[in-house]
Amino acid sequence: MLAATMNRVDPDDPLAGLQVGEHPEPTAPEGWSVVTVRAASLNHHDIWSLRGHGPRNAPLPRVLGSDVAGVDESGNEVLIHSLINDPAWTGDEVLDPRISMLSDFHDGGLAERIAVPTRNLVPKPAGLSFEHAACLPTAWLTAYRMLFVLAGATAGTTVLMQGAGGGVATAVIMLGKAAGVRVWVTGRSEEKRERAVALGAAAAFPPGARLPERVDAVIETVGAATWAHSMKAVRAGGIIVVAGMTSGSHPPLDIERVYLANLRIVGTTMGSRHDLEQLVRLVVDQNLRPPIHEVIPLAETQAGFQAMLAGDLFGKLVARP
Ligand SMILES: NC(=O)c1ccc[n+]([C@@H]2O[C@H](COP(=O)([O-])OP(=O)(O)OC[C@H]3O[C@@H](n4cnc5c(N)ncnc54)[C@H](OP(=O)(O)O)[C@@H]3O)[C@@H](O)[C@H]2O)c1
Repeated sequence: MLAATMNRVDPDDPLAGLQVGEHPEPTAPEGWSVVTVRAASLNHHDIWSLRGHGPRNAPLPRVLGSDVAGVDESGNEVLIHSLINDPAWTGDEVLDPRISMLSDFHDGGLAERIAVPTRNLVPKPAGLSFEHAACLPTAWLTAYRMLFVLAGATAGTTVLMQGAGGGVATAVIMLGKAAGVRVWVTGRSEEKRERAVALGAAAAFPPGARLPERVDAVIETVGAATWAHSMKAVRAGGIIVVAGMTSGSHPPLDIERVYLANLRIVGTTMGSRHDLEQLVRLVVDQNLRPPIHEVIPLAETQAGFQAMLAGDLFGKLVARP
């Protein structure tokens, strides 16, 4: 079958290790199912894997892709919760010490077919296209957990999102607006700032801009480039929720401000299956449709990741086998 695989690690030139070509068909051990992929979206996670941030002893070549929607062997339309847990684990999936993400150890979904634990299948609502459903299990799930479960945002909360056009950023804007949250964003171009406001952001600022007032919560996935601004932007007693480091992972930390302002800094990875089910319900109830930058054929995955590396996207890139 056709698949986008990681064949080797290259920290400086991640796409050098990416190949789109033939890969063996998946097989499903007991308790697993084969899903025919109808759409899979691209994520920075795939680029981090190609740079070598994934598990060191994982097999190569390995299919990339953690955001998948398709049809299972019984003909059910599904999306896939992409956290693979120890079979004995019973608590919140994200807290399993033996957790991995689809494509970390097991082949991911940028392929024609994928094998996953059957318990990871979540019914896809009929009114949601495969392309939109394939945006939910990674960036949108992470945004949902950051905003509602960790930041506790409700109607009237003010949240600063660092970034305007990214997968997580566009999800935070739309989910926040649907819940009555005042979402402010920073965006690197006037065009992205305007598009963010059109999508539902209450205001958009250039990176590092002085805000009209401090915010209750900051959603951070950019890292080094925005960290100092996030620390200044949050009010006393507020929270910074961190899920990424696109621009670098070692910004200075003003410890004095953390304790004097009683800040909380909370890290998070993805979300539980329950979070994903809640997210799907919210998306359907509020008739939300994740913004899609472009739908591309699976064969053009390389060009898609190039656009992601260049920061040219507004919303998700979705590949169709
Ligand atoms: N921990 C988790 O579970 C989890 C889950 C999902 C994503 N992530 C991570 O979160 C990050 C964002 O994911 P995504 O899906 O939203 O990625 P994306 O779609 O590629 O978006 C990148 C975002 O970063 C913003 N950005 C601002 N300054 C930047 C800079 N100097 N360099 C690069 N980007 C900058 C961009 O802002 P503009 O709008 O101005 O371009 C854009 O909003 C990635 O690093 C990803 O690995 C983590």
